[in-house]
Amino acid sequence: MTELLDLLRCPACGGTLARRDGSLVCEARHAYDLARAGYVNLLPPGKMKNARAGDEAVMVRARTAFLSLGRYDPIDEALADALCRLLPDGEAVVVDMGAGEGWHTCRTAELLFEKRAAPVLALGFDASKYAAERGCALARARGHFSRCALGSPREGDVTVACLPGNIFHLPVADACASAALSLFAPVPWAEAARVLAPGGILAVVSAGRDHLIELRRELYDEVRTTEYLPAPPEDSPLKLLERVPLAFSFAAESREELENLFVMTPFYHKTGEDGRRRLAQRDGMRLTASVNLSLFVLRGVTCSSAS
Ligand SMILES: C[S@@+](CC[C@H](N)C(=O)[O-])C[C@H]1O[C@@H](n2cnc3c(N)ncnc32)[C@H](O)[C@@H]1O
Ligand SMILES: [Zn+2]
Repeated sequence: MTELLDLLRCPACGGTLARRDGSLVCEARHAYDLARAGYVNLLPPGKMKNARAGDEAVMVRARTAFLSLGRYDPIDEALADALCRLLPDGEAVVVDMGAGEGWHTCRTAELLFEKRAAPVLALGFDASKYAAERGCALARARGHFSRCALGSPREGDVTVACLPGNIFHLPVADACASAALSLFAPVPWAEAARVLAPGGILAVVSAGRDHLIELRRELYDEVRTTEYLPAPPEDSPLKLLERVPLAFSFAAESREELENLFVMTPFYHKTGEDGRRRLAQRDGMRLTASVNLSLFVLRGVTCSSAS
């Protein structure tokens, strides 16, 4: 099985990392300590070391509370189904870019294992140290945490490591990932192409036109109906393989759940007093989830289902 330490790279110089006591150290002596929560902080030195980088704690807490209710499970199912169809047999290494607190990282890894019966090593990177901390706790609670972030051997069939890291300078080796994931996060196209192994898949989940439309109608007088369809820059080695729309409805069953959903979205930063007041009066809401699952491969490489 692939060991995590073989995949990690120094965020300062790109060198390989070795274990020394409670730290990871590169040949140029850049050192990264193991935090009490269980992660190694691989944010590059400088401004991204700032604890405020990435989503705020309040957003992370709200997302954990909302996602743990399983409302977005159909997204993880669709993602795992697509990867299962497209990836070659055998162990899968998954790099989740902008993983938040690792909910989808864990669920996708679990579902991939259930569907393929081959080991999964999933790495979730997020700029927020708090999110990585929650990710470690989640991985621990679901039995996927291992000390492999510090070089210990992997312990189970599903291993999930959540680490603070900048997705635009991923601290991982070239061509090591069977799949790179980006869910509701900025897409680092160049880094995704760099870390994907030949035949690997970049899977991007983005909001569709009607995503949470009922919530947006409650928050805003005018609702935009444009849709962002992720596409790599023209000079990217990545090309679109397929785009799968997915829509389902779910109920936010309490004021608290609705509030959590609101806080975990970009609407939290964009909504004025009136919209917030209107939302606070609702005890629940039937909602539409509408997303696009866009799958990309490296040009000139056939993926397993096409070979
Ligand atoms: C909307 S959240 C989505 C989280 C998770 N993928 C999910 O769907 O639950 C976007 C995440 O991207 C992270 N992020 C944004 N820019 C980043 C960067 N440059 N490096 C690492 N993470 C970043 C944020 O901290 C945030 O947790
Ligand atoms: Zn270094």
